Parts: sequence; C-alpha cells; structure tokens
Amino acid sequence: MPGGNTRHSVALAPYPVYARSGSGCRITDVEGEERVDFLNNYTSLILGHAHPQVTEAVQRRAALGTAFTMPTPEEVELAELLTSRVAYVEQIRFCNSGSEAVMLAIKAARAFTGRTKIAKFEGAYHGLYDYAEVSEGPTPDAWGEADAPASITEPGTPESVARDVIVLPWNRSEACRKLLEGNKDDLAALVMDPMPLGIGMIAPGPGFLPRLREETARYGIVLIADEVLNFRLAYHGACHAHGITPDLATFGKIIGGGFPVGAVAGSRRVMSVFDHTGALKVHHGGTFNANPVTIVAGLETMRNMTREAFDRLNRLGEYARDRLRRLFRDTGRPAQVCGAGSMFLAHLTAEDLIDFRSLRGFSRTSPVYGGLCHKLLEYGFILSPRGIFGCLSTPMSEAELDALVEALGRALSELD
Ligand SMILES: Cc1ncc(COP(=O)(O)O)c(C=O)c1O
Repeated sequence: MPGGNTRHSVALAPYPVYARSGSGCRITDVEGEERVDFLNNYTSLILGHAHPQVTEAVQRRAALGTAFTMPTPEEVELAELLTSRVAYVEQIRFCNSGSEAVMLAIKAARAFTGRTKIAKFEGAYHGLYDYAEVSEGPTPDAWGEADAPASITEPGTPESVARDVIVLPWNRSEACRKLLEGNKDDLAALVMDPMPLGIGMIAPGPGFLPRLREETARYGIVLIADEVLNFRLAYHGACHAHGITPDLATFGKIIGGGFPVGAVAGSRRVMSVFDHTGALKVHHGGTFNANPVTIVAGLETMRNMTREAFDRLNRLGEYARDRLRRLFRDTGRPAQVCGAGSMFLAHLTAEDLIDFRSLRGFSRTSPVYGGLCHKLLEYGFILSPRGIFGCLSTPMSEAELDALVEALGRALSELD
C-alpha cells in the first residue's frame, strides 16, 4: 500500500496503532493495549464499538444473505425512520459513502436547475468528489482575496473544475451575498455544512446560515446541507438545530451504524430528478446501495438514538467542553473550545476565530497537535492528530471525560 495505508485519515507518523477489537468506548490494539476511543471511526460510531443490539441485528441479517439484486423491506424502514425524523426530508436514496451522497446531491441540483456551477466554503471538507474537494485546505500562498477566495483543485483533478466552483469565505455574510449574486445565473447549488470540521468547527455567526438560506432561495440556487458528520448534532439533525430548511441534504456515518453508508435526501420536488419514471433522470446505480447489512445496523443505531439518548450525549458533550475550558483557564493557556452536541475541537490560540484563514499558524497541520496525539495515545486515549478533536459515544460517562482532561493537562505540560 503506498504510504503504508489505504485511508489517509488514519496515517500517523512514524506508523499508526493497529486495532484488534473494539467494545463500547474502548479499542484494544494488536499488542493488547486498551484505550478510550474519542474518534469513533471519525464520528460514525455514536453507540460505540460492537453494540450488542447492532451486532445481533447484523449477524441475524448476514445469515439470511447480505446483498441481492432486489430491494429489501429493511431499506423502506430506514427510509421511513429518517423521513419521519427530519422534516425537510420528504424523499431519500441510499448509497455507500458520504462522498457519493455529496456527488449525487450536486448532480441532482444541476439536473434540477439546468445550471453548472456550485458554491462551497473555503476549508470545508465534503468528501472526494472533484467539485466538492475544491479549496478544502489551500495553503496561504494560494488563498487569493479574503472576500473572493481562489478556487484550488486537488492534484489529479482537471484545473477546469475550478472554474465551476465558487469558493465562499465562512462567516462573511456580505462577501457571500456578493459572490452568490454575481454568479446567480450559473449556480446550481450551495453546499454547506452548518459546523464544518475543516473550518475548525467555528460556529456560524448569528444570522449567517439564515441569510444564506434567503439568498439561495432568492436566486433559485439549491441549498445542499452536508449532514454527513453533523447529523449527530441533534435528534432532528444539524439544520433543524440551526433553524434552517435546506432543499437537499446528505447523510452518512451514524445512519450506517458502523457500516459503509451514504444518503441523499430532500424535498420531493428536487429529489424527483432520481425518479426513473419521470422526465429528468439522474442515473443512480450502485452494487451495494441499501445492502441490508448496513441498513439493519443503521436502523438499530437510529432506533437507539432517541431524543433522550441525544439529550444525554449532548449534555456530556457540554460537560467535556466545560472541563476543557476550565483546564485551559486554570493553566493560563490561550485556547478556545469549539464544537457542539457530542463533539469538541480545541484551538490553542486566543486570536479571533472567524473563518478558515483564522486557523492559520495553529491549523490542523501544526506539529503541536501531532505531539499531543502521541502523548494521549501513551496515556490511553485516541484523539485526532490534526487538532484536539474528539467525539463522544453513548457508552461514555463523565469518568472518561474527567480522565481525558486530566491526561490532556499532563500531555500539554510535558510538551511545554
Ligand atoms: C462533512 C463530510 N462530508 C462528506 C464526507 C465524506 O464521507 P465518506 O468518508 O463516507 O465518503 C465526510 C467524511 O468525513 C464529512 O465529514
């Protein structure tokens, strides 16, 4: 495997820890070392590892056959659960990853509007589709104007793709308004995540998201909410929590209960482009779409994630963010704690955090975070090497959070 791995997000210098098994909020590595897992396969395992009900459902389903060239009743059940839980989801289709979901949503918006361009935020990650990847992590030399960021493609993507992507600055309402207005006749969609991890989970300022909703509606631009990661924010999802109604949304991660999954969903009007009996057909195949093993794992997970389960987990998230803030205050360390719901992301800086560019100098590539990640591994905790980022799972309690904060305090003082 080039670079010794098959997924860049698990690379860790000089080599990663290899997992043997997971149970609840803990992972045991191949050498028998146990650690508390604050990454949960990058936020997807909201019930933790090997939840008994999920495991039982998967085993039962696998024994009955794992994939068919036919639909199964289970996909209807998961579709019904999600359409009844999220008000703006009238229709839904399943795929195998968040990247695919974003690609399908962009294609749907183009077919629906007859336009080509998309808008997205500088620094925001939306998976691997060429257009969605534009300017997901540009270096300062390539940034361009603050109010009109440059459109930078990834290696391997034709530069012509950049012409079809308008890059917006997060939290700068007026600049966004101008860029949307200036491209209104060409823009099929605005893709946005209400609390983008790639932008350090810097919260949207008051009125920022509603204003984007207003502007996109004014110009007939399809608003695509990428909830692949942030659907774990709340029982009805991230957009509901922020009081906005998108036209389309993409899901992934938690709705697959630990198995590969994605979904594109939204209003019946826009989703009609996928209806093979209608006029506008966006092709949507996929050998493993809605395979029943993924679907039963997702169903079991989402059924477990009741309002009460979300409330409890999000209260724990608040506790974690409070404890971290206290740690930084008590040790006189300049830091800010972002994140919401069951996620936290701490930045070791006192500078104003507004957009992707304000992360400069203490960004996800800073070696400080890599050093902290190694120290925490030593102390028995799994966090991201690209920022003090973690997410919680339901088997956790205050005890794991207290222990983490104590270990982080120790790790920080040793790295000073
Ligand atoms: C916001 C967001 N969108 C899309 C994706 C892509 O999802 P996947 O890794 O399932 O392709 C991710 C993955 O981390 C994500 O965080």
